[in-house]
Amino acid sequence: MKASIAFLGFAVAATALSAPRNPSRKKPHAVNPKDFVYVGGLRLKDGKGLHYITGLNYWACLNLAADASQGGNYSRLVTELDQMAAHGVNHLRIMASSEGAPTPQPFRINPPLMDAPGKYNEKIFRGLDICLDELSKRGIRATMTLNNEWQWSGGFAQYVSWALNNTAIPYPPSWNMTKAPQRPTPHTGWGNYSDTSDGAHSYNEFTDFANQIYTNAQAEQWYKDHIKTVVTRRNTVNGRRYNEDATIMTWQLANEPQSLSSYSPADPLFPWVARISSYIRHLAPKQLISVGLESKQGEHIFKAVHRAPDVDYATTHCWVQNWGVYDMYDASAANLKAAQDFATQFVANTSAWAREVGKPVFLEEFGMARDNWENKDKEYPYLSSAGTSHKDAYFNTIIGAVVADFKKGGAYVGTCPWAYGGIWRPETQVVNKIGMVWAGDPPHESPGWYDLYDTDEAMGIVARQQKDVAAWIKKNQTRGHGY
Ligand SMILES: *[C@@H]1O[C@H](CO)[C@@H](O)[C@H](O)[C@H]1NC(C)=O
Ligand SMILES: *[C@@H]1O[C@H](CO)[C@@H](O)[C@H](O)[C@H]1NC(C)=O
Ligand SMILES: *[C@@H]1O[C@H](CO)[C@@H](O)[C@H](O)[C@H]1NC(C)=O
Ligand SMILES: *[C@@H]1O[C@H](CO)[C@@H](O)[C@H](O)[C@H]1NC(C)=O
Ligand SMILES: *[C@@H]1O[C@H](CO)[C@@H](O)[C@H](O)[C@H]1NC(C)=O
Ligand SMILES: *[C@@H]1O[C@H](CO)[C@@H](O)[C@H](O)[C@H]1NC(C)=O
Repeated sequence: MKASIAFLGFAVAATALSAPRNPSRKKPHAVNPKDFVYVGGLRLKDGKGLHYITGLNYWACLNLAADASQGGNYSRLVTELDQMAAHGVNHLRIMASSEGAPTPQPFRINPPLMDAPGKYNEKIFRGLDICLDELSKRGIRATMTLNNEWQWSGGFAQYVSWALNNTAIPYPPSWNMTKAPQRPTPHTGWGNYSDTSDGAHSYNEFTDFANQIYTNAQAEQWYKDHIKTVVTRRNTVNGRRYNEDATIMTWQLANEPQSLSSYSPADPLFPWVARISSYIRHLAPKQLISVGLESKQGEHIFKAVHRAPDVDYATTHCWVQNWGVYDMYDASAANLKAAQDFATQFVANTSAWAREVGKPVFLEEFGMARDNWENKDKEYPYLSSAGTSHKDAYFNTIIGAVVADFKKGGAYVGTCPWAYGGIWRPETQVVNKIGMVWAGDPPHESPGWYDLYDTDEAMGIVARQQKDVAAWIKKNQTRGHGY
């Protein structure tokens, strides 16, 4: 022991003379590009054994990593990736798609990866290359989201609009940064949700429009063309083909594809999932495939979607405020308890369903607002100065439920909170020249609602989860055979 420590000390000192300054921080292991994550029973595994996902949503990675002329910020990117890696994060769920239009469209990522069917902004694609390369160096794998039910990246509605001769998209209420109230200093934000007076439509009208992607042959062909382009791309930074790079753990069909509002065995979502996942499988046989389903609509839809043969594991998203279980202005213990009880049941129910389907399940979205009752009479309801007492208790509960399920051999394989805002804060935001602020919340929602900031206790909870699970895996594996 002593000898090897002395030897290590010498090696470090010798390196320090020749290498650029690299302070005490221990470098995480890079992803071996051949070490693909695979499914074994209800578990994920890689070359080291059991693989548990300590994830975060970081959808804007491709834009942050792009050239400054495109609104990117490399210094922020690497700062935030280092912060996440230092908290044990080993997975990011990111966008591998975003669509623009011939006419200016509000409420979405700008500039988009794809301006028109098959027409790419190579500077944003290069951002995706850089993002993946930086992830790989830090031992972080990715879920690559290929489409979106919601308006913030173009997504389904944009493909349908293209296919229907650029028909106007019936946007639902969405965050408008230029609406009153505005801050005295221009381009520093606030705004409000659009409403019927701004021409906003209902969410049902919007999803009915967007879901035509399931049945429109032209929209589907353009979407498949995009899948082929991105899955077979060669990374301009490290030369790896995307479908040969184990940094990419998963190709995801879309963010939150919606079914009809009530269960129908003839829902067009089901054959669409089967068709698209089998198309991806033939292009990317070494990587995993997930759907991106929220799984809020119960057992039948969960099972019908996740039983598709080329879907490797199930996904869940748990949204207590959006689903009317939690009120961010209510400081009461009963309000918090309602959220905790719901999340505990949601994890138990979906774990049981996944076991019945025979596949793992990944909690790849959940969040809670800050203690925004403290912001109620202030100029903006989502100020970062509010505390996080409910959010921290809730994160401990929901992450704890997943970890407990994992340890007892349940179907859950990891968590992925929504969403890393890192060094961004609403109080200091400046809208860039392309109209973006890159908060953790995407452009159709109030910035700061669900952000995890670099100094938040939630990041400590994420880090402790990773340490706890790593110690458990080590014990479970060294005790012998079975996991
Ligand atoms: C880029 O990120 C750095 C932090 O790494 C920040 O100080 C700077 O203001 C950002 N630049 C722009 C143009 O937003
Ligand atoms: C498509 O839209 C353009 C411009 O609005 C219009 O001139 C054209 O007739 C439309 N074509 C079809 C096939 O609807
Ligand atoms: C955003 O708000 C501004 C100011 O009220 C308004 O002029 C504009 O039409 C709104 N945009 C949308 C897309 O609702
Ligand atoms: C946004 O508009 C609604 C409805 O008019 C209003 O109740 C709310 O206070 C506004 N939000 C902000 C941040 O001013
Ligand atoms: C969990 O399942 C039970 C039994 O089917 C049901 O009563 C309950 O509403 C479900 N809860 C959640 C949060 O899904
Ligand atoms: C590892 O964990 C699984 C699931 O909890 C358990 O069934 C198994 O007995 C454990 N194996 C060892 C060797 O600890």
